Amino acid sequence: MAAERVVAVTGGASGIGLAVAEAALAEGWHVAVADLDAGGLAAAEARLGTARASYTTLDVTEEDAVEAWIAGAAARGPLKGLVTSAGIAREVPALETPADLFRRVMEINVTGTFLCARAAGRAMRDTGGGAIVTLGSVSGLRGGKGRVAYGASKGAVVNMTRVLAVDLARFGIRANCLCPGPVETPLVAAMVGPEQRAQWTRRVPLRRYAQPAEIAAMAMVLLDEARSSYVTGQAVAVDGGFSGAGIMDEVD
Ligand SMILES: NC(=O)c1ccc[n+]([C@@H]2O[C@H](COP(=O)([O-])OP(=O)(O)OC[C@H]3O[C@@H](n4cnc5c(N)ncnc54)[C@H](O)[C@@H]3O)[C@@H](O)[C@H]2O)c1
Repeated sequence: MAAERVVAVTGGASGIGLAVAEAALAEGWHVAVADLDAGGLAAAEARLGTARASYTTLDVTEEDAVEAWIAGAAARGPLKGLVTSAGIAREVPALETPADLFRRVMEINVTGTFLCARAAGRAMRDTGGGAIVTLGSVSGLRGGKGRVAYGASKGAVVNMTRVLAVDLARFGIRANCLCPGPVETPLVAAMVGPEQRAQWTRRVPLRRYAQPAEIAAMAMVLLDEARSSYVTGQAVAVDGGFSGAGIMDEVD
């Protein structure tokens, strides 16, 4: 029997990454889950099991550790997918943003994504191709208050992904950037108060936050060669219509 295809998922202990790991298992992938949060990983392991998933405590900014994690994932079967959901978000007015915070957000969201994509891209090159799905955000497509660091980092991820699509196409590797709007996850719960939540909801044509599973569903499409073989280099917004909207009613 052919070895099971493997997808590597960063940030897989929580929110969107956890939903991606769950969806990938349901679609028959072996899932290599990585996250900085060891406690969160243990909870993910209890939920998802160990039959077709492995769990690694990892800081995506540590180059050698990322290389070792991807090598371990690729040893389980052909590495055909990567989803980079590890990320942090902070909301601080631009003029109050400390340089250290700006650097940290860029380091995790941009450099961490790059290190994982490079390691996985090399492994996929050796197995005849695969798909990379990065996590951008509507904050990487549009301006938004208090997001000088986060928005810069997500804009960088969007365009990094386009470059990856160009550079890796010759190896049969597609790369797309999933750009969620507001999603019900711990990251948002920590950052968004009731007032801002209402502001978001008013500006989303579908008038609600997404569930993580709705973002994971699009990640599955972008990972799967059979469903998205001619899609690469795209920023795919899954945002309830937010980035497409112009003038709209404040209330229905
Ligand atoms: N939730 C949203 O509304 C939303 C919207 C747009 C984009 N996103 C993006 O989606 C991704 C996932 O967000 P989420 O809402 O699921 O967040 P989350 O906080 O629920 O999950 C993020 C995970 O990343 C992990 N992580 C943080 N730093 C890490 C590091 N250095 N190394 C390894 N793991 C690390 C955390 O431990 C956490 O488990 C992020 O990149 C985020 O920017 C989220």
